[in-house]
Amino acid sequence: MAKQALFFLSLLLVFLFHCTTTLGQPAQAPTLPAVASPANAPAPPGPPDVIKILQKVGGFTILIRLLKSTGVADQLKGQLNDSSIRFTLFAPNDNAFSNLKAGTLNSLSNEEKVRLIQFHILPTYYTLENFQTVSNPVRTQAGDNKPGDYPLNVTSVGSQVNISSGLVNASVSGTLYSNFQLAIYQVDKVLLPLDLFVPKPPSPAPAPAPTKPKAKKTPAAASPKTSTSSTVVDSGVASLAKHGILVSIGVAIFIPFSL
Ligand SMILES: *[C@@H]1O[C@H](CO)[C@@H](O)[C@H](O)[C@H]1NC(C)=O
Ligand SMILES: *[C@@H]1O[C@H](CO)[C@@H](O)[C@H](O)[C@H]1NC(C)=O
Ligand SMILES: *[C@@H]1O[C@H](CO)[C@@H](O)[C@H](O)[C@H]1NC(C)=O
Ligand SMILES: *[C@@H]1O[C@H](CO)[C@@H](O)[C@H](O)[C@H]1NC(C)=O
Repeated sequence: MAKQALFFLSLLLVFLFHCTTTLGQPAQAPTLPAVASPANAPAPPGPPDVIKILQKVGGFTILIRLLKSTGVADQLKGQLNDSSIRFTLFAPNDNAFSNLKAGTLNSLSNEEKVRLIQFHILPTYYTLENFQTVSNPVRTQAGDNKPGDYPLNVTSVGSQVNISSGLVNASVSGTLYSNFQLAIYQVDKVLLPLDLFVPKPPSPAPAPAPTKPKAKKTPAAASPKTSTSSTVVDSGVASLAKHGILVSIGVAIFIPFSL
């Protein structure tokens, strides 16, 4: 009995040992290649992947979402496949996006969102030093249609790089990536292009414009008034007519007495 129990116990131990080792091995096996492949992956495959770079840095969820939803990420991916095509991306982080006035992004149509994202991309590879000699305004992807559209000014002294859209003054706060084909610089603000957001300052100008609708309304209000005054005149005429009838009746009554 004791021998049987011992045999059974040893069998159980062997079984448990087998389980823990076989369970332990698969647990280690996937984690090791998983760690190894991302470490190897970024270097060998040629074209840099903007989304992967931003995901790796972290804190760019809104920019990543916009890059994807606008299709600009795919566009960049395809273009960066050609090693002669170069870009500089100004990347505002989530904090920069959260500092926007509420509803700023929602006020944009899909096409305007594409322009907003393209405004953060220069069709040239710039090192931070290059910005010291850049001639303003620099061209952005958003302004591809007409030269002079969506201009952006970049000024640099030493290692400090400032960017002005005319609406927003931003600064480069770090280099996230730079490989002679693609440079990604973190910026502390979302670059709002005048071309998209200048229509809003004119909308305060339409604040005087509401006086125009008012001016239009006053004639419109005047015409109801004239109509009401005409009805007043009508009723006045009516009362006069009634009065006249009364007078004539009075006269008619008086005449017989005078006769
Ligand atoms: C990149 O180029 C390779 C061949 O050079 C091609 O097979 C691949 O489909 C291209 N990828 C994109 C996203 O254009
Ligand atoms: C950049 O902007 C900061 C203020 O935000 C200013 O102090 C600095 O002089 C500017 N530098 C350049 C190179 O324009
Ligand atoms: C950008 O630079 C150009 C040329 O120096 C200048 O005419 C323009 O006013 C600047 N715009 C902004 C928004 O700073
Ligand atoms: C941006 O900076 C310029 C001077 O460098 C200043 O005149 C302008 O008012 C600033 N604009 C904003 C929106 O802060």
